[in-house]
Amino acid sequence: MSAHAAPTTSALPALPHWESTPADPPSAVRQIKAALRARIAASGRTVEEVFAIVERRIASEVDEIVAARGRGEPVWPVINYADIEAGTVSAGAQALLRRRGCLVVRGHFDREQALGWDHGIVDYVESNRFFENYRGPGDDFFGSVGSKPEIYPIYWSPAQMQARQSDRMARVQAFLNSQWKHESEGVPWFDPNRDSLYPDRIRRRPPGADSAGLGAHLDPGTLDLWMTAAYQKAFRHLFDGSVEDYDPWDAAYRTAGPQYPGTTMCSAFRTFQGWTALSDMAHDQGVLHTVPIPAGMALLMLRPLLGDVPEDDMCGVTVNQVFPADEKWHPLLVKALSGIPDIRAGDSVWWHCDMVHSVAPVTNQQGWGNVMYIPAAPWCPRNEAYAGSVRDAFLSGSSPSDFPAEHYERAWTNRFQPAQLNTTGRRGLGLT
Ligand SMILES: [Fe+2]
Repeated sequence: MSAHAAPTTSALPALPHWESTPADPPSAVRQIKAALRARIAASGRTVEEVFAIVERRIASEVDEIVAARGRGEPVWPVINYADIEAGTVSAGAQALLRRRGCLVVRGHFDREQALGWDHGIVDYVESNRFFENYRGPGDDFFGSVGSKPEIYPIYWSPAQMQARQSDRMARVQAFLNSQWKHESEGVPWFDPNRDSLYPDRIRRRPPGADSAGLGAHLDPGTLDLWMTAAYQKAFRHLFDGSVEDYDPWDAAYRTAGPQYPGTTMCSAFRTFQGWTALSDMAHDQGVLHTVPIPAGMALLMLRPLLGDVPEDDMCGVTVNQVFPADEKWHPLLVKALSGIPDIRAGDSVWWHCDMVHSVAPVTNQQGWGNVMYIPAAPWCPRNEAYAGSVRDAFLSGSSPSDFPAEHYERAWTNRFQPAQLNTTGRRGLGLT
């Protein structure tokens, strides 16, 4: 509970909201910023005071992470799959997972299984002359036609579907989902034991590759995070004088609301983003980094309300572009960016859906860097709605609607077939 006696939220001024992309985003930004400031002021606090409380909380976590790194200690928690399957993960290990918001699951799949899936994907794309027919990045009209992609816009290979519907995946997803508060305010927000099989792509980055990496960003939304009624409720404690009660693990109001369309959108609610390694990867070969502080979202949400940010600017967040977390506005968070440890094929890597992440640059990469993106996206109204379009895409071999309409696999006869679905697969697609 908060030590601060906040007024009841019903006494606070209501917020304007936009359930679809505002026609004039800069004007909507000006309106929502004024309204959020007025609401915080009516709670008896100032924006600066609320921000300072959050900043102190985050700073102590940043200090802890920087100190651990300085001592050469690993920052990313690691849990063995065998302990998840046996139900023997210690309370301490789970507490560290919730503190850092990220995890490596060692031996999630047998190494040979993962390497077999990697070969299976190569066979699948080569047997369908994918490289000969590749038309360049679907989300970049002027992409380099003819070059081999690193991201394969492939969704329905036997390897991906076998992993998505496997018992081992279901167990890890249930374990991760259960770190969240999935029932609160008397509402069951999601079912932690049923995943929605969110289909995503494959990355295969070859030895010798040079890659500029990906800047620090986050993926749960853009302006909608401040502007839809559902997200305003999800982040209610940041704006109603009870910031101490903000809990990044509370799923309340996150599992039914709309999302503004965009090239980087994810229609699903994901408790964790994640991928499964299909090759060994050394920690210094252009790998994933996170800011391992789930509550960092509070800082990202409040920072634009301070007086040094232009009135029509949300610290660079706008529609149809990825949410940036840069040095200019978020130097404190960026200090905590921490990379994954060495990974073996068959390990999986997970991070809380609100967390800042980046991919380090690499030149002349040693070894392959191959992953299948498989998140934890538990069954909830939002994911059930998206599952309808996923089902259609699966049956026709199309690209899922969150992704560019490339549809390479429609005529590929050796894609994963409906008859090969097991109970988990059918439940995930809403076919039961
Ligand atoms: Fe991302």
